[in-house]
Amino acid sequence: MTAQPAIAKKSGPLTGRAVVPGDKSISHRAVMFGGLAEGETIISGLLEGEDVLSTAAAMRALGAEINHDDDGLWRCYGVGAKGLSEAEGLLDMGNSGTSIRLLMGVVSGYPLNTFFVGDQSLSKRPMGRVTSPLSEMGAEFITRDKGRPPLAVKGSASLRAIDYVLPVASAQVKSAILLAGLNASGTTKVTEPAPCRDHTENMLRHFGVDVAVSTDDQGRGVIEIEGGQHLLGCAVDVPADPSSAAFPVVAALLCEGSDIDIMGVCYNKTRNGIYITLLEMGADIEILRRYDQGGESVVDMRVRGGKPLKGVDVPANRVPSMIDEFPILAVAASCAEGTTTMSGLEELRVKESDRLAIMAKGLAAAGVKLEEGEDNLIIHGNGQPPMGGVQVETMHDHRIAMSFLILGFVSEKPMSIDDARPIKTSFPNFVSLMRGIGARIDADSGQPGDAATLTLEEDL
Ligand code: S3P
Repeated sequence: MTAQPAIAKKSGPLTGRAVVPGDKSISHRAVMFGGLAEGETIISGLLEGEDVLSTAAAMRALGAEINHDDDGLWRCYGVGAKGLSEAEGLLDMGNSGTSIRLLMGVVSGYPLNTFFVGDQSLSKRPMGRVTSPLSEMGAEFITRDKGRPPLAVKGSASLRAIDYVLPVASAQVKSAILLAGLNASGTTKVTEPAPCRDHTENMLRHFGVDVAVSTDDQGRGVIEIEGGQHLLGCAVDVPADPSSAAFPVVAALLCEGSDIDIMGVCYNKTRNGIYITLLEMGADIEILRRYDQGGESVVDMRVRGGKPLKGVDVPANRVPSMIDEFPILAVAASCAEGTTTMSGLEELRVKESDRLAIMAKGLAAAGVKLEEGEDNLIIHGNGQPPMGGVQVETMHDHRIAMSFLILGFVSEKPMSIDDARPIKTSFPNFVSLMRGIGARIDADSGQPGDAATLTLEEDL
């Protein structure tokens, strides 16, 4: 499969309705829990991106029936009380850290051997943060150097509950431990240093599991789950992904005269840090309606462009609620007036790529004044979009790819990326959606005037 370079050119105004696909975190959990539950689970709005498809394929390989039906719905017939069976081959998790980490927790509680592999990016990511607590519970692992995949899990039917304080505010680690805790003897307790996304807790409840959440004397969240509980199939309606919505939102804010609507976006308070930050920068984002959808808070929003944005200090304690949005925030900050300070970003170095380094390098090359520290990024905007005219190497990272394309809608010269294929992991209709509201994205052969068509859903 060859790379698909893409180029984004001055665009706008962006107008119309952006229908953003389902939330990635919720979609992973929906197919995973549907595959574990007893009875039928019907999922609407599932993100059909590569990462979620990796989770679905893995659950099938472990014995669950998961179907994508002609009516567009996904129906899961979970393994229920009989439990998972051993997968015959390797479980290929592609690019997806959520799939591998959560599933490592799931399979740890069964007497099975499971073998996980992933792509070049996933094979560099640290898994010690998961193997360490799961080993304490009684599972065994063989990994490559520094806990990296490929890796093997030897699960156990007699896991022990643990009382674990997360060293990093990671929802993936928290979830892996809670999912292993479902099959452990005793009550598993996880304390989080800062609130991180709570979709596992919300959705386990939705599947009939008791999950207790409290606060300790230091104000930290404590989640407890008693082992031996079973999940019951249910209906799940996945809201739109706030992380994906952030791309058309920032694009509309930056392109003068824009006016777009985005409906049904998950606005869980462990996920909405990007919107709070953009509002502090002066963004014209209007929440039209707020409602509840399957235990998650959801909003309809209207975004209008052209209002000048100003630089802000993003408090470090907000980082977990917008951990995936720093690449696109950095683009907004590059066009704002004044300095934007982002700190507490050490986790960005171990995402699908080293996002701190790649954003800093690409933005600097595009003409943005910035300072990159070990765990921080300071961007000095002058109220004008930067020069652009750069091709960025996206290092298998979907959010880096989308962020630099958005910059190309406003930079003086077009921005291009070496490969648009990673976008399929989280936002398969990104190109058609952005074009549908007026953005200019094309395939880039490097030839002047190239206007070839790039349709991610079909071409990749
Ligand atoms: C996710 C948790 C976050 C986030 C990732 C999805 C999840 O990762 O970056 O995209 O679904 O639990 P960490 O747990 O590593 O912070």
